[in-house]
Amino acid sequence: LNTKAKPKAWVHELDAIESLCGVPSMTAARLLRIMEQDLAADHYKGKKNAANQDYANALQWRPYARGGYTYRLVVTDNRYTAIPAHLNNEIIVPTVMDMIDDSTDAVIELGCGYGRHLFALRDLAEHQFPKLQYIGCELSETGLAGGKRIATLEPGRASVSFQSFNYLRPSFEFLRPFKNVIFFTCHSIEQVRMIDDELFHAMVGAVPVVRCVHCEPVGWQLNPDVMGEIESGAIHERRGMNIPLGGAVDEFHTARAPLGSDWNINLVERLKSLGQQGIITVDLIERNCAGNDIYNPSTIIRWTKP
Ligand SMILES: C[S@@+](CC[C@H](N)C(=O)[O-])C[C@H]1O[C@@H](n2cnc3c(N)ncnc32)[C@H](O)[C@@H]1O
Repeated sequence: LNTKAKPKAWVHELDAIESLCGVPSMTAARLLRIMEQDLAADHYKGKKNAANQDYANALQWRPYARGGYTYRLVVTDNRYTAIPAHLNNEIIVPTVMDMIDDSTDAVIELGCGYGRHLFALRDLAEHQFPKLQYIGCELSETGLAGGKRIATLEPGRASVSFQSFNYLRPSFEFLRPFKNVIFFTCHSIEQVRMIDDELFHAMVGAVPVVRCVHCEPVGWQLNPDVMGEIESGAIHERRGMNIPLGGAVDEFHTARAPLGSDWNINLVERLKSLGQQGIITVDLIERNCAGNDIYNPSTIIRWTKP
């Protein structure tokens, strides 16, 4: 199978969503804020990042009684940095927000999980763009159920709706009423080993005006030296990882998480080819610019339908 979606994905989150939705006066923003603390905790408690412990010891970071330290390592602007541990070091919501204007009909996240980015976008955009629609597309039934449950909170607000969707059989029939949309993805194409051109053809064919931004861990796919080592097999002989604070991201090592998990290896190649064919125009690339996991940092690639 060409997708690495986990069959049990979002089960834990759905339980948390159900129980938080039962709290009196719960709002979507409040619920997501609580969920986000759990997400950050996975990183700063060192579960995903043993290097945090080394820096915590060396720099005498203050530990919290409930686990984790006041700071943690992340990637920003292609460098290893430390930030307050409770902050979410993601860049997708402000990047999509920056693209929305009066003519935008809908923002659509592909591989949205329970839709946390869509609810965050609604908080920021609803007062200024009251007609904007928010649509989450997802393969996991559990992810979709979580998003639909959150959407039942605050019924008077702009609707956030969800669609069953598979990157491997893309269909955007539900976008027929729209003329101008923004698609975005955040660490979801990462789970599709080989993404097919069919997806991008379906996106540009869906409505007259299409823009898209990907936030995916593919910085290493832009590095010819890394790609050369992958081709020769030499990358598997590399050991250890150097994480100097302020130093540049080591893409020989950031390639290893996706390669080891059978995650995406061809997004950059496909976007380059579609650009050369004139099907899309790539207008922004920000390599290893953000993300919570230093082993799998995010790269922003934005394109428009010409
Ligand atoms: C790491 S999660 C990211 C979720 C969300 N974008 C976020 O940032 O919270 C990856 C998501 O991609 C979804 N996914 C994986 N393979 C997919 C496929 N073939 N079609 C649609 N979604 C898929 C997974 O179910 C999961 O929800």
